[in-house]
Amino acid sequence: MKRKKIKKLLNLTSPEDKVLIKGWVRTKRDSKDFLFMEINDGSCLANIQVIANNNLENYSEIQKTTTGSALSIFGKLIESPGKGQKWEVQAEEIEIVSIAPDNYPLQKKRHSDEFLRTIAHLRPRTNKYGAAFRIRSELIYAIHKFYNELGFQCLSTPIITGSDCEGAGEMFRVTSLEPEEVSKQGEMDFNTDFFGQEANLTVSGQLSAEMFALALGDVYTFGPTFRAENSNTSRHVAEFWMLEPEMAFCDLSQNMDHGEELIKALTRHVMEKCEEDLSLFTKFVDKSLAGMLDTLVNSKFARITYTEAIDILLKSNKKFEFKIEYGTDLQSEHERFLAEEYFKKPVFLTDYPKNIKPFYMRMNDDGKTVAAVDLLVPRIGEIIGGSQREERLGFLEKRMEEMNLPKDIYWWYLDSRKFGSVPHSGFGMGFERLIMLITGITNIRDVVPFPRTPGSIDF
Ligand code: 4AD
Ligand code: MG
Repeated sequence: MKRKKIKKLLNLTSPEDKVLIKGWVRTKRDSKDFLFMEINDGSCLANIQVIANNNLENYSEIQKTTTGSALSIFGKLIESPGKGQKWEVQAEEIEIVSIAPDNYPLQKKRHSDEFLRTIAHLRPRTNKYGAAFRIRSELIYAIHKFYNELGFQCLSTPIITGSDCEGAGEMFRVTSLEPEEVSKQGEMDFNTDFFGQEANLTVSGQLSAEMFALALGDVYTFGPTFRAENSNTSRHVAEFWMLEPEMAFCDLSQNMDHGEELIKALTRHVMEKCEEDLSLFTKFVDKSLAGMLDTLVNSKFARITYTEAIDILLKSNKKFEFKIEYGTDLQSEHERFLAEEYFKKPVFLTDYPKNIKPFYMRMNDDGKTVAAVDLLVPRIGEIIGGSQREERLGFLEKRMEEMNLPKDIYWWYLDSRKFGSVPHSGFGMGFERLIMLITGITNIRDVVPFPRTPGSIDF
């Protein structure tokens, strides 16, 4: 007999004579002639109650089951006379799959997020992390659904690359050379390395995505990206997932329209499909979350230029740790002030000074700023970074020269501006930051199954 997921059972409208469920014991209560168990199988937040009578053949064994033990239960799905649940399972046969000893770390009481990070292999068994990772999964589906319906092609961009898209030099090296050999020779000889040249883990699939947007029209890439930046903050990890749409015949303002539509659609999807899991976060994690989600779905995101943002920050009279100065990048405290306190909703910032942005962004007519866009959101700060791309070969070459970028490595990128170049735009959205936004979880380490941060790669 095939097992039924608890999520399915709880949604049934009539009783069933024969059901088979498999899951883990969350709690057990002994009564005189029977015992109650709450069973969870990970398919949803809710447990199902199982009643085991003392006439079961292995009743004395079942009495020994502990929190965390795994059971296979065959029985009847009946209407529950008890409060709080519609259905329960009257067990007819219980097979003990395995017993968790008493030192199982997830006993009943609530644990801190910090503690649960030290047992990241067990934390998905808690209500909060189970809910977070089900929402993460649902969001992955929602992204592909959203783009499929819009007629975008999904592209798998390379993970090993020979170029630094962002030019920030925060890359992890990929090599097949043996460390001993390298130290014997005194230096890396890339000619003898696997690819015959330097190679790295990608920081962004954008440059590849641009090539495909100029062929397939609208594309997106969604996959792991890697940054060796040494920032131990609550919103940076070394390995994260980035969603990157890239659209031909699209300018900066249409790029923002798209980003806003995307965030609204994904939020709406989670609100519809993950109501139960989401309710855990609105109740226990962030009391203001429901209001935030409503703002995401119903408000029009603000749009201002970088220069206007600097003015607002200078006039705010707020004490910031980092000084605000035209020409420097905004810090997270500035970004959060703008989104959280000033606008109280997401805000797009556009037209940043060229010196703090990568080579590929389109030069504005003022010659000083580029057609960049960041989306800042309450509690997190930057969630999207993108731009209209420089489609004019001459401008692009000039910018690369100014920035001392080797044109030979980027020959293929330059080629795309020689043959049928068109205005095009795109952005990258940090997937983990989106999950933080939608769940109210405040540390990025808690939305990644096994986070990688400076000095930490356990699990
Ligand atoms: O702003 P970024 O660096 O943009 C790019 O890489 C562009 N090439 C994307 C594009 O235009 N196709 O990164 C995009 C987003 C950020 O806004 C942030 O949400 C997320 O990626 N991000 C990180 N998320 C978690 N940990 C990190 N270390 C991150 N670095 C960036
Ligand atoms: Mg950025």
